[in-house]
Amino acid sequence: MDKNQKLEYIFKAIKEAYPGKTLVFNDGSPDAPVMIIGEAPGADEEKQGKPFVGRAGKLLNATLEILGWQRSDFYITNIVKYRPRDAVGGTLTPMPQEIEKFRPAIEKEIEVVDPKLIVILGRIAMAGLGIGGTMAENRGKVIEKNSHKILITYHPAAILRNINWEPMFREDLARMREFV
Ligand code: URA
Repeated sequence: MDKNQKLEYIFKAIKEAYPGKTLVFNDGSPDAPVMIIGEAPGADEEKQGKPFVGRAGKLLNATLEILGWQRSDFYITNIVKYRPRDAVGGTLTPMPQEIEKFRPAIEKEIEVVDPKLIVILGRIAMAGLGIGGTMAENRGKVIEKNSHKILITYHPAAILRNINWEPMFREDLARMREFV
């Protein structure tokens, strides 16, 4: 089985585990050297069926382009593969139990893609990979876990709320060059 077939197999298992949910899986190439992991899809992602295509995704794309990359140079995914919603359809932050339930799937996804570097966007993705500590303690750091290097930075939605953090976000993403 090649990587795409193995990923299809993971997605099939997720579909079976969550019948009735609108799922958003991945984008980009599984042969990319860098795997970018976010939190969960939002309304735009749910509509288009791809991760990071809304406002936060546009900021991510723009930052990658400033640094000389294209979005298609990466493999992009989320921890939680559906949009967590409240009773009236608003988007929620994933709950700790939801994040835990997706841990085996994201671990398998990482194993299949086997990137040179994983980039974690925000604290939910950090929790999804079982990394403790706060964003303030971890951002800009590269840690090693299960023989994968993991660079931790802010979620682009956090940059939209705190534009003063944008230079740090860009600086962190520029570090990807050290690993590819
Ligand atoms: N935020 C995320 O974490 N993932 C997306 O796909 C979109 C917004």
